[in-house]
Amino acid sequence: MLEGSRSLLTQREIQEKLSNEDLDELLRLWWTEQGAEKRRDLDLIASVIPFSTEAPLRVLDLGCGPGDVARAIYARFPRSRIDCVDRDAFLISICIGVNRREGVPAQHFVRDLWDADWHQGFEPRYNVVATANAFHWLDALRVAQVFQDVWDLLRPGGVFVFAEPACSEERFAPGFAQWKARQPPRYSRGHWERFWNRANEILGYDHTKLLGSRDSRLDDSLPVSGWMQFLKNARFESIDVLLRDGDEVILAAAKP
Ligand SMILES: C[S@@+](CC[C@H](N)C(=O)[O-])C[C@H]1O[C@@H](n2cnc3c(N)ncnc32)[C@H](O)[C@@H]1O
Repeated sequence: MLEGSRSLLTQREIQEKLSNEDLDELLRLWWTEQGAEKRRDLDLIASVIPFSTEAPLRVLDLGCGPGDVARAIYARFPRSRIDCVDRDAFLISICIGVNRREGVPAQHFVRDLWDADWHQGFEPRYNVVATANAFHWLDALRVAQVFQDVWDLLRPGGVFVFAEPACSEERFAPGFAQWKARQPPRYSRGHWERFWNRANEILGYDHTKLLGSRDSRLDDSLPVSGWMQFLKNARFESIDVLLRDGDEVILAAAKP
């Protein structure tokens, strides 16, 4: 079993179980689970990366899951090389399967961001670090440390782009909650269950029991200003709120 993996099967065993049809079905179920806004988010994340589309970028996708962020960036920067990191052996197996099938030049690492040495062996040469909906699985102290790691791993001039859940500031919370209740919900328990029921069928055990049970985590307890403060504390500049909706914020920042 790979270091950091929490699976009952090795990552390779999971990969061998995933047929092309399984990959297609799982991706479809994943996109439904991730909500209609996911495509917009990926498009925005890839679009703001301020480099030539011909540039041979080094890209790091943290908490890659099935790899949507990496592939969205690769689609715009076809000379990029991607490193994908996730602690979950099943989700990263989907990522590996789809990346190999689509010829995305990526390396995949089963690592846990709770571990101080999650980036062991990585060289500090990334032009882009990107993440969608993974940091909120950490607590505030760990996010601060991981943002510092991201800073260290970026080249000067590199950029950090991420989408994460965000609440409103306390003063605006009641009205914001009322407004949000009138919006179509992005996520549904049913969609989550459909993805994981199919995953469990393929795997032959209940993989959801392995998902992050030991963590205390941020979830959506942090307002946009909190995410920005983490960036400022790690010395990032050009911090920009690219988008904010009822569920999340997308932020970008640069290492000068
Ligand atoms: C909601 S999914 C998002 C996946 C992917 N970024 C996407 O947009 O489809 C959250 C991902 O974060 C990963 N994750 C959560 N905590 C993690 C940790 N401590 N270390 C590494 N990955 C983690 C999960 O395994 C999962 O793949």
